[in-house]
Amino acid sequence: MSTFIPGSKKVTTLTFKQKKQKGEPISVMTAYDYSTASLVEKSGIDCILVGDSLGMVILGYENTLSVTMEDMLHHCKAVKRGASRPLLVGDMPFMSFQVSPEEALKNAGRFLKEAGMDAIKLEGGLHMVETIRKIVQAGIPVMGHLGLTPQNIQVFGGFRSQGTKSFSARTIYDDAIRLEEAGCFSIVLESIPARLAEAISKKISIPTIGIGAGPGCDGQVLVINDILGLFDRVKPRFVKTYANLSQIIVDALGTYKKEVEERSFPGADQTIDMPDDEWAGFIETL
Ligand code: KIV
Repeated sequence: MSTFIPGSKKVTTLTFKQKKQKGEPISVMTAYDYSTASLVEKSGIDCILVGDSLGMVILGYENTLSVTMEDMLHHCKAVKRGASRPLLVGDMPFMSFQVSPEEALKNAGRFLKEAGMDAIKLEGGLHMVETIRKIVQAGIPVMGHLGLTPQNIQVFGGFRSQGTKSFSARTIYDDAIRLEEAGCFSIVLESIPARLAEAISKKISIPTIGIGAGPGCDGQVLVINDILGLFDRVKPRFVKTYANLSQIIVDALGTYKKEVEERSFPGADQTIDMPDDEWAGFIETL
């Protein structure tokens, strides 16, 4: 396991490029708050994505469509206070970039100016090319996102894998080339066949970050609540649970409840004492 070395170099979009050139895999993890971001930083992970998945795993919505710019900026600011070394990417929420390239640029700028992010991510292929160009030209690095783009679930008819038919595979492949040409520094490939993701990763020179897209991508991303066993309402096949924190937390809370009820908490270590003479003085005042 790699460990964060205090003072080690900030990860930038250039680091992403160099890692791909050297064939070194890129690790990306989501985080949505100060405490978790500081743990992700300590692990040495390259990049934190403040994903709009926070709508589901933090805010409890059915899907990501209700997430607002204000929700995203609020959580991005907390993550920024918790981590500085990883590349910090803020996810543009539904309807913050689809209306016009001008509005998209204005909203993208807020992630850097107000929330201290290093880059933004947005979903979509061909239709987003003009928007991506405009944002990149303004000096804002863009991570693309193709395949199962959750902001399109109403069009897809649910959370369904994409690119499993030859025609749709070709569309995703062509879109990846277009996003590279538009100036993206990296592309998330979500829930597409592994052989398609591998072909795209070989074709384009920017790194692909896979989630449910197999081992042939240049990096991987997962949602932190999924890998820590903190969210089980939706569990895609591609999620690997690395720890079951839910059980640990429920056990800890159960122990706390029991100790409160039997008055064994708080104990001496958690109790504030007062010198006898001060206590006597206080009693005299009564
Ligand atoms: O919102 C998110 O967390 C994402 C990742 C799963 C790629 O888009």
